[in-house]
Amino acid sequence: MTASAKPPLVVIDGVHKRFLHEGRSVQILEGIDLVIERGEMLSVVGPSGAGKSTLLHILGTLDLPTAGRILYDGQDVTRYSPGRLATFRNYSLGFVFQAHHLLPEFTALENVMMPGMIRGGARAALARRAEALLTEVGLGHRLTHRPGELSGGEQARVALARALVLEPMLVLADEPTGNLDSKTSESIHALFFDLNRRRGTTFLIVTHNNELADSMPRKVSMRDGRIESDLRRFSYSGPFRDGPSEREPTLDPTDPPG
Ligand SMILES: Nc1ncnc2c1ncn2[C@@H]1O[C@H](COP(=O)(O)OP(=O)(O)OP(=O)(O)O)[C@@H](O)[C@H]1O
Ligand SMILES: [Mg+2]
Repeated sequence: MTASAKPPLVVIDGVHKRFLHEGRSVQILEGIDLVIERGEMLSVVGPSGAGKSTLLHILGTLDLPTAGRILYDGQDVTRYSPGRLATFRNYSLGFVFQAHHLLPEFTALENVMMPGMIRGGARAALARRAEALLTEVGLGHRLTHRPGELSGGEQARVALARALVLEPMLVLADEPTGNLDSKTSESIHALFFDLNRRRGTTFLIVTHNNELADSMPRKVSMRDGRIESDLRRFSYSGPFRDGPSEREPTLDPTDPPG
């Protein structure tokens, strides 16, 4: 089977979202259409209240659209049963949200192992992977600390390791490094690019960090519940190789100008 015969990784098709607030209906998403191909790295930017987190929740199957469909590999996940959705999320998605919901009774290491334990993975192998990832995010010296014994930024990094440990096909991140110092943020952004290059992991990152957004190959801007622009960068400063799509190859930024 050729790559082009496969449906896109994600199709967001005419998604609307309305909330009921104090008896009144408030329209938050007003018809979002977006196609995400395998291996893409895209940022979603826009002013506060634009609907970015709402869209991310719907994309992550944590909330349903009022109208429209979300297709993963051509399958409409808005029709899945709760049980099927839970399995789908465990196998396919990694979440990095600011409210990271670590389990307070468990250590950093155990929290990172948790998605694999839910799947019934071998404990020793999971522990090794979790430890390697925690070391990568700079927490090799905090493996046995519980969330209450970690700083806010350290908790965020544990949640990040937990999101990445099973190597999901798509990572959905909402301000993943919003609370971190710039050095830690940069090393985590580098980890994203590294995973994208090595594993082909697709990343969708909601961010107010212009530097991060501008280093990514694709930038989607939202305003008032709509997509205002969708820009692909053909030359950019990030380490991402040209995407695995049908695009023409572009100049390698390390190539000397011809
Ligand atoms: N459950 C809800 N009921 C009513 N309104 C809601 C609900 N959730 C979100 N909203 C409204 O929807 C709008 C979009 O919210 P959302 O969290 O998606 O914004 P955002 O783009 O992520 O903003 P920020 O950059 O501040 O995180 C906001 O005006 C918010 O008040
Ligand atoms: Mg938000």
